[in-house]
Amino acid sequence: MEARQRIIVALDVDAPEKAVELVRTLKDDVGAFKVGLELVNAAGTGIFEAIRSAGVEHIFYDAKFHDIPNTVAGAVRAATRLGVWMINVHCSGGREMMRAAAQAAHEEATSLGLQPPKVIGVTVLTSIDETILRQELRVPGSLLDHVVHLAQLAQDAGLEGVVASPQEVEHIRAACGPDFLIVTPGIRPLSADSHDQKRVATPSEAIRRGADYIVVGRPITQSPDPKRAARSVVAELREL
Ligand code: C5P
Repeated sequence: MEARQRIIVALDVDAPEKAVELVRTLKDDVGAFKVGLELVNAAGTGIFEAIRSAGVEHIFYDAKFHDIPNTVAGAVRAATRLGVWMINVHCSGGREMMRAAAQAAHEEATSLGLQPPKVIGVTVLTSIDETILRQELRVPGSLLDHVVHLAQLAQDAGLEGVVASPQEVEHIRAACGPDFLIVTPGIRPLSADSHDQKRVATPSEAIRRGADYIVVGRPITQSPDPKRAARSVVAELREL
């Protein structure tokens, strides 16, 4: 994969105009854009067409669906009609829910003659630490074991990959093999502020540990020169 294709820019903005402007500025330098719940709820699902019209092929819908299998399947079918390239669901919805999501994406894409979106899983949110996992959610054992367990469950259910923090990548890669996609947020180029991210890695560290894609938000989108910031991430990855 070319270096720039590994970069997914998180469009964490609250208005469609801001998202489209970022897309126009960055589309030739990165591989994909991530649309999350803030932007979709601010702009509506028309945002996907707006971004596509601005010249983007690869859109990751960070939908984090978590509901009964039938409802998640319906939501994934609808998102497939929006033409997204990648979408996610919570692994904690269980095997049947994940299987329903993967199947819905394939069936709907096939009936429309589209490429199916890559359906990936969210294992454990990075805002949850081991104390919360044990005391609030009553999940015994280590957080890392739970993350790896959920990644294996996702793979078994037919998902194509997971979102994982840089610290978890090597363990998931070892457990799930070379073809399972790993998408990693919490990326900070050496010169960047880490903001509220605690477990961070540089772009090249994340890829070296085995990530396929990196999600980069503020280090690019809040830079005084987003294009230059994106190009410096590409340059760093090219040196690998
Ligand atoms: O600005 P920053 O680079 O921190 O943005 C990272 C993006 O990745 C945000 O959209 C955030 O919601 C998302 N994300 C994350 N950690 C996860 C899953 C998603 O930071 N575990």
